[in-house]
Amino acid sequence: MSQGTSSTREIPETGLKPKHIAIIMDGNGRWARKRYLPRMAGHKQGVETVRNVIKSCSDHGVEYLTLFAFSSENWRRPADEVSFLMQLFAGALEQEISKLHENGIRFKVIGDISRFESRIIQFIKKGEQLTAKNSKLTLTIAANYGGRWDIMQAIQQMMENSSELPIQFDEEKLAQYLSMYYAPEPDLFIRTGGECRISNFLLWQLAYTELYFTDTLWPDFDENEFNMAIQSYQQRERRFGQTSEQIQQ
Ligand code: IPE
Ligand code: IPE
Ligand code: MG
Repeated sequence: MSQGTSSTREIPETGLKPKHIAIIMDGNGRWARKRYLPRMAGHKQGVETVRNVIKSCSDHGVEYLTLFAFSSENWRRPADEVSFLMQLFAGALEQEISKLHENGIRFKVIGDISRFESRIIQFIKKGEQLTAKNSKLTLTIAANYGGRWDIMQAIQQMMENSSELPIQFDEEKLAQYLSMYYAPEPDLFIRTGGECRISNFLLWQLAYTELYFTDTLWPDFDENEFNMAIQSYQQRERRFGQTSEQIQQ
């Protein structure tokens, strides 16, 4: 299957090394509460984990890392927490983009960024432009992202680009309008923090992804935890509808 396509009719190339890892970084609030700290302290500590995981992915030759930073539903949190998360995001963008660039990392954001303050939108655009030609690792931040939003905006765009009625389309055509069309579908999904749900993350793209859930809270997700997730992935047999016998031939 060619890179970037999203059809379940063909079996993609897979190997022992996940090419694309997608992570729901959950558990910051509980990490802080355990220490009698405000939730914000957990989010701050979570940024450290982001740095470490980017490094681990680079070291392991992972080509795509996608991190869920803020969901389309997270606006429902208390206003002071939303505002803190926005400041943290703005600060991280301002400080980290040049370092990502130095390390050969391509930076991308998926999600409806129109709702962010203009300073954040500018940082995102500049960061994406600056790092566009880098190829060591593609780091995608999902911000104000929702899997249902993604599918809906893809349908909307596809309809706008189609001149003939009725519109003829298939999975392949729709997938071209999804916000992560530039990446192969995730091989490994990780969710920290103990919840076993997808929380409206990459709904379309996770169709055949190997899922890994750990109770470890995001600020505690260190190199050892990362290696455990990779090891778990390496023990899976990805069958894509086939039988085990067919795979082992
Ligand atoms: C994940 O940690 C970070 C974001 C959603 C931004 P949480 O803030 O959800 O932490 P818990 O789940 O309350 O522990
Ligand atoms: C999912 O975490 C979103 C992010 C990590 C950004 P949540 O903590 O918001 O998920 P739910 O609400 O518990 O499902
Ligand atoms: Mg949570």
